[in-house]
Amino acid sequence: MNTNVTVNAPAVKTPGSGAVVSGTENDAPAFYIRNIPIHGRLFLAPMAGFSDGPYRLLCRRLGAAFAFTEFISTDGVRQGRREVWQRLRFRDQERPVILQLFGNNPDVMLYSARLIEEMQPDVIDINMGCSVRAIAHKGSGAGMLRDPLRTGRIMERLVRHLHVPVTAKIRLGWDAASRNYLEMAHVLESSGVAMISVHGRTRAQGYGGQADWEAIGEIKARSNVPVLGNGDVTSRSMALERRRQTGVDGILIGRGAMGNPWIFQSDRQDGQYRPDRRAVLDTMQAHLRDMQQWYGERGLMLFRKHAARYLDRIETPAATRRRLLTGTDPEEFVDICLDLRDAPGC
Ligand SMILES: Cc1cc2nc3c(=O)[nH]c(=O)nc-3n(C[C@H](O)[C@H](O)[C@H](O)COP(=O)(O)O)c2cc1C
Repeated sequence: MNTNVTVNAPAVKTPGSGAVVSGTENDAPAFYIRNIPIHGRLFLAPMAGFSDGPYRLLCRRLGAAFAFTEFISTDGVRQGRREVWQRLRFRDQERPVILQLFGNNPDVMLYSARLIEEMQPDVIDINMGCSVRAIAHKGSGAGMLRDPLRTGRIMERLVRHLHVPVTAKIRLGWDAASRNYLEMAHVLESSGVAMISVHGRTRAQGYGGQADWEAIGEIKARSNVPVLGNGDVTSRSMALERRRQTGVDGILIGRGAMGNPWIFQSDRQDGQYRPDRRAVLDTMQAHLRDMQQWYGERGLMLFRKHAARYLDRIETPAATRRRLLTGTDPEEFVDICLDLRDAPGC
């Protein structure tokens, strides 16, 4: 497996090389992230625990124009923590690859980003949206929204020293009293970021209430860099409607893609491909095999959260479901899938 983990690889001087691999690369690009053509409007959002190598590649194959990695701690990179470096792995078929980082120390962020750049990602994104207390209250993630000028200086320095485009993913502000998204977008654009992704909630909202797409539209209307909208999109038609409403360059889909990589896949009939039972079971097996290849012995255990969501899509006897979600033998898992697939009446 070509996982591109060699830290000592030579630095790339040509950002975006290899970035045109896409299911729709014959079409004209929908937009560019600086000089990187993007072929499509739907993307897999960064999700810790979900947007790992196997899931990113699966979503790319089914039509996502790119997929963010899970967020990666710049402190962890600097400390050389093995599990953090493991998360940086990607395969060339995924390109364009957007590696997402978080941190609060400007020197550590730059140091780690430069190390990571040697792995030749296409884009480096900085997380400014994580609402988890241990991260946001230390000034990382959404904590970066509290001090736009400091954040602008950090981003300006990253942009100056890195060869790859640098982007940012924000929320609308820290809380209802400080929805500073227009100021943030302006500061980010002035600092040279190549794209802004916006989750339409404040840090205080967490995942409560509804994403505010009007605010996302306001950012789009005032920005000269591509803007991606994000929040509560659960179908292609909804994504289309949000784009029509706001004019954003593309849509990030997070929870709506959990157990549903087909959300990115179009169908000639009505625009949304709907997998039948066999397609779900075939995808489950292929996904599990890739998880085994990617994670080795831990593959099956880490696959369970995906399996549970896939199984929600098809009728499965309770006992069979239990066996699938608690078993420890990948071969038995595949055998059960094959039985289910070929069961009469399915
Ligand atoms: C399990 C989970 C993990 C997430 N991890 C990240 C992350 O690593 N980086 C990030 O920027 N956002 C992360 N998010 C936020 C999503 O990228 C997205 O902004 C949010 O879920 C709203 O989009 P949705 O309604 O389409 O899910 C995560 C969300 C979930 C549910």
